[in-house]
Amino acid sequence: MKVSYSYLSEQFTDPDPILNDIKSLIRSGEFTLGKHLEEFEQNFATLCHTKFAIGVASGTDALRLSLIAFGIGVGDEVITTPSTFFATIGAIVTVGARPVYVDVKEDYTLDPDLIEKTITPKTKAILPVHWHGCPAEMEKISQLARKHNLTVIEDACMAIGAEINGKRTGSFGDAGCFSLHPLKPINVWGDGGVITTNSEQLRDKLLLLRNHGLKNRDECLFYAYNSRLDPLQAIVGLHLMKEVDWIINRKIHHANRYDQALAKISEITIPPRTPGVKHVYHNYVIMAERRDELYRYLREREIDCKIHYPLPQHLQQASQYLGYQTGDFMVAEEQARKIISLPVHQHLTPEQIEYVIETITTFYHYILP
Ligand SMILES: Cc1ncc(COP(=O)(O)O)c(C=O)c1O
Repeated sequence: MKVSYSYLSEQFTDPDPILNDIKSLIRSGEFTLGKHLEEFEQNFATLCHTKFAIGVASGTDALRLSLIAFGIGVGDEVITTPSTFFATIGAIVTVGARPVYVDVKEDYTLDPDLIEKTITPKTKAILPVHWHGCPAEMEKISQLARKHNLTVIEDACMAIGAEINGKRTGSFGDAGCFSLHPLKPINVWGDGGVITTNSEQLRDKLLLLRNHGLKNRDECLFYAYNSRLDPLQAIVGLHLMKEVDWIINRKIHHANRYDQALAKISEITIPPRTPGVKHVYHNYVIMAERRDELYRYLREREIDCKIHYPLPQHLQQASQYLGYQTGDFMVAEEQARKIISLPVHQHLTPEQIEYVIETITTFYHYILP
């Protein structure tokens, strides 16, 4: 049995409803900004329980423009996690700021108890990542930020619909950043991103930043960027938004079954669960003894597993200039040695999930009761 990691080949079997709306866009000639984008932004804000959402060109730009909107740049420090995708750090570095890493907890997110000792007069922001779809500990992070007068920018690129006590990711910080990349739950036909916020002032700044700083067609308030979300992608996003609850619930259902079966295997650590936290399992990540062997064993049996990622950010060549070393972040480093992501997407069948469980069980010679 083949178990794919990606769902893309199964997702758009009937693209006609989307294509019909795109045809009407073509007839209208409204190829930038406009009513489709506004409708998408309103619906996205509702989804994230925020007042505003601003569509931009990618998740990376969502992070970059948020940092820029808060005036963060050369000489500033931004506290973040070494367990993240390259773009989190790329955004900080390319605006001219310096990433300051803090180790993660068992749930793979920033450890708030380690933040305070890294704050310096240059610290301007904390940038937690809701890694793999698990919300970071936002209450403690926000408290610290208030105490030290720091901005909080959430990297929620993997965490649409995740919650802490009913409050959605993207609604805790000063800004929340989302990706609409094809491998994300609302996955447009190319690149896209969104910033959420409750601040009208920030919304107005971001609308200018993404559109050349233009007050109107002929007047520019400040020179800025072209980072608009295309209306074509907004149309695709509007269709996919209707499915997002179903997608999240299917993934949570698969994760529950994995948890139940894999918790019995002593060589495996299942993702920790925190009361009140809704993890959306963008990736279902376990820690496994003999990880590399297990990885090969699963792939030889047509189970498409992944490693997100084998090297934490502080040990990447691109971070060398920051001066970190092996041993600086023990939790993140141990996780990088042991983690493996199992297929968990919405189109998997119960038989496929059972096949993954049986294969892992056989690998560890564990007899299912
Ligand atoms: C945690 C995280 N941050 C940022 C990004 C960047 O998003 P995009 O690919 O839309 O630029 C991603 C995308 O994979 C991500 O997973």
